[in-house]
Amino acid sequence: MAISALDAPAGTATKDTARTGSKTSRSTGLAEDPLWYKDAIIYELRTRSFYDSNGDGIGDLLGLAAKLDYIKDLGVTAIWLLPLCPSPSKDDGYDIADYMDVHPDVGTIADLKVVIDEARRRGIRIITELVMNHTSDQHPWFQRARRAPPGSPERDFYVWSDTPDRYREARIIFKDFEPSNWTWDRTANAYFWHRFFAHQPDLNFENPAVHAAMFEVVDFWFGLGVDGLRLDAVPYLFEAEDTNCENLPQTHAFLRKLRAHIDAKWQSKMLLAEANQWPEDAAAYFGQGDECHMNFHFPIMPRMFMSIQMEDRFPIIDILAQTPPVPPGCQWAMFLRNHDELTLEMVTDEERDYMYRVYAAEPAMRLNVGIRRRLAPLVGNDRRKMELLNGLLFSLPGTPVLYYGDEIGMGDNVYLGDRNGVRTPMQWNSDRNAGFSRANPQRLILPVIIDPEYHFEAINVEAQQNNTHSLLWWTKRLIALRKQHRAFGRGSIDFLNPDNSRVLAFLREFEGETILVVANLSRFVQYVELDLSKYQGSAPTELFGRTRMPPITERPYFLTLGSYAFYWMALERPPENEAQIRLESYEIPTIEAASLEVLTAGDERHLLEEALPAFLHTRPWFLGRLRMLASTRITDAVRLGQGDSALVAMLVATEYGSG
Ligand code: NOJ
Repeated sequence: MAISALDAPAGTATKDTARTGSKTSRSTGLAEDPLWYKDAIIYELRTRSFYDSNGDGIGDLLGLAAKLDYIKDLGVTAIWLLPLCPSPSKDDGYDIADYMDVHPDVGTIADLKVVIDEARRRGIRIITELVMNHTSDQHPWFQRARRAPPGSPERDFYVWSDTPDRYREARIIFKDFEPSNWTWDRTANAYFWHRFFAHQPDLNFENPAVHAAMFEVVDFWFGLGVDGLRLDAVPYLFEAEDTNCENLPQTHAFLRKLRAHIDAKWQSKMLLAEANQWPEDAAAYFGQGDECHMNFHFPIMPRMFMSIQMEDRFPIIDILAQTPPVPPGCQWAMFLRNHDELTLEMVTDEERDYMYRVYAAEPAMRLNVGIRRRLAPLVGNDRRKMELLNGLLFSLPGTPVLYYGDEIGMGDNVYLGDRNGVRTPMQWNSDRNAGFSRANPQRLILPVIIDPEYHFEAINVEAQQNNTHSLLWWTKRLIALRKQHRAFGRGSIDFLNPDNSRVLAFLREFEGETILVVANLSRFVQYVELDLSKYQGSAPTELFGRTRMPPITERPYFLTLGSYAFYWMALERPPENEAQIRLESYEIPTIEAASLEVLTAGDERHLLEEALPAFLHTRPWFLGRLRMLASTRITDAVRLGQGDSALVAMLVATEYGSG
């Protein structure tokens, strides 16, 4: 049996560890396919908000372990855990004070091992954070740097300056909180550089010692058994004068070095870039397939919301047209919502104004350059819009990433500080604290949602498990269906261009499987005529209900779609080539009979009936030639003409293998 590198302790796995395609390892419960992330369903969760096992009001790792069956039941195959490391938690753990431990609030390394092992037993992989760009100002590296003399190796771990005038072209990301990317440090007697909060000094990637330190961190986490690392804020690792200090060539060179390190030491591990950039700059994080395996598609996210509001497919088609193809082995990560604001950095000024107007009417809903809201409130709690957006998320090219709570349509609280309103406790049932914790409600890490429309007493897992019509059950069915068709995770995409711009239609194809996706982006019924002539003869099967639709002919394929409806339909592979091959190799048989009448209406009719299916299959004028012919029956025959030039016209009834 193949040995998975997952089982090996840190530093002992080697490249020559055996691998056998997508076989499932009995010891780990995980398929050993190194491209596992292409078929994955990722579930992003905040451990502190998921489930509290010890009643201190804070979700923890053992709480998560207790809820793995729920995640498994959902159909998820990988969990992305938000930051776990010790931290002052001024940026929810993205301000790391120790890279090689977990925060006591969430548990211990041993607890994390329990989560990893128990998840693996259920066929679920674990992805967590690698925050390389910056640390907390409480990290010992920074504490020692600010006290060390300028020019010393310790000092050189961070980026210092005597003036705040360097790198002036770099934008301020947290513009609601920070006036500058430089902050004066009295101890160091110098300014230090930070792209985020002033308590998050940027590490100095010009210093090779920082690279070495990061490689150790990577080996630590992979050694623990995590399968993937999300590279937080990866475009900002290096700085250079007269640039915007984003996506610099040095950053890509470092990522290639990191990837080479990982490839030499580990197997089936995955790097996921967080690069909030325009498509071309974002795609650069795949390199030539030698940087990150995965990469969030930031620009498509707001455009999905834009498209359903404008009732027009243009924003989606346009941004995908600008998206370069991904190198083999690479994959986009697609998402609707996450733990941050719905960022509007990668849209035009007009688009941003539009998004604010339609999705963030109240000032409290806006933060930095974005909208701090969850999926359900964003779409006015409209179930059909949630389904449509998920339908797109799960069928556009890439791997879907679901944000915890969105599978039950959880609400948010825009009156909490920063992005906390979208990070509130998971709603398990209608008990105290939504079943999240046994603690005094006043002690909870964040308050549960009590907005009347999204109150935890109504919106919770238990209630939705008990109702097979709930959003939760619908999401489970969506996930299950997606997992049956690898074309979604691995296939090509081909947009159709119907006249009705309120309808988005595309084909996903992989290894002979073709899926047609048609989505009505409008609140009203729409019709659409699709050019599917390439698939003539194939009868689409709607995948949710397995309903057989009328076959495709040479004419446009006509569909009507209800408000925000979307269809996934399997198209049988067009057997055009097969028909061509059949035609070339077909020889019309000779049947000897006493007379034409005997052959068409008499005793020897069966000879002709047996020969007819093969004959019909090769006739270009016969529309049913692309389907399986089960039998033919001559129901009538008329002789035309006399002697050698006589012809017989026949009426033949055909039966197909299906229908
Ligand atoms: C991106 C993370 O998603 C966000 O939550 C964090 O505040 C910044 N990076 C800084 O680490």
